Amino acid sequence: MDSTLNVLFVCLGNICRSPLAEGVFRHRVQRAGLEDRFHVDSCGTSAYHVGEPPDPGSVSVAGVHGIDLSAQRSRQLRPDDLRTFHYVVCMDASNVRNTRRVGDGPIRMLREWDPEGPGGVPDPWGGGLGGFERVFAIVDRSCAALLDDIRAQHGV
Ligand code: 4NP
Repeated sequence: MDSTLNVLFVCLGNICRSPLAEGVFRHRVQRAGLEDRFHVDSCGTSAYHVGEPPDPGSVSVAGVHGIDLSAQRSRQLRPDDLRTFHYVVCMDASNVRNTRRVGDGPIRMLREWDPEGPGGVPDPWGGGLGGFERVFAIVDRSCAALLDDIRAQHGV
């Protein structure tokens, strides 16, 4: 039996927000000693940056927190992702709309889990490091709550 919990983070380019969410969530999974129970990935609804590493702003802000994004490469959302992932976690409402065009599935917004309230994760692309730091804070507290919720729902 495959009891792996599959969690996919989705944004537009898969170079700024969702790679950061993937790295943060995986880091929290590892800290909890649960890496055998989770498959964590990210993708973009667009093909704009396929094959590229994450944006230097995301790499930098992750690095400050001891999280290494260097192995990640951008890929585009595929229809089968909506069947294989148990949680398809989008960064904003436009990501949700674009994901729904690809198929039906367990599509959610990351900030449904934000203890400070729902909304979109702002796009930091092309802006300064401050934008990436703000995204990190949102993503970190939301991923903490997401992991707690998944653990409670699935008894892990
Ligand atoms: P992301 O940011 O969706 O958080 O990866 C963006 C990256 C690239 C573009 C837009 C947003 N772009 O238009 O190329």
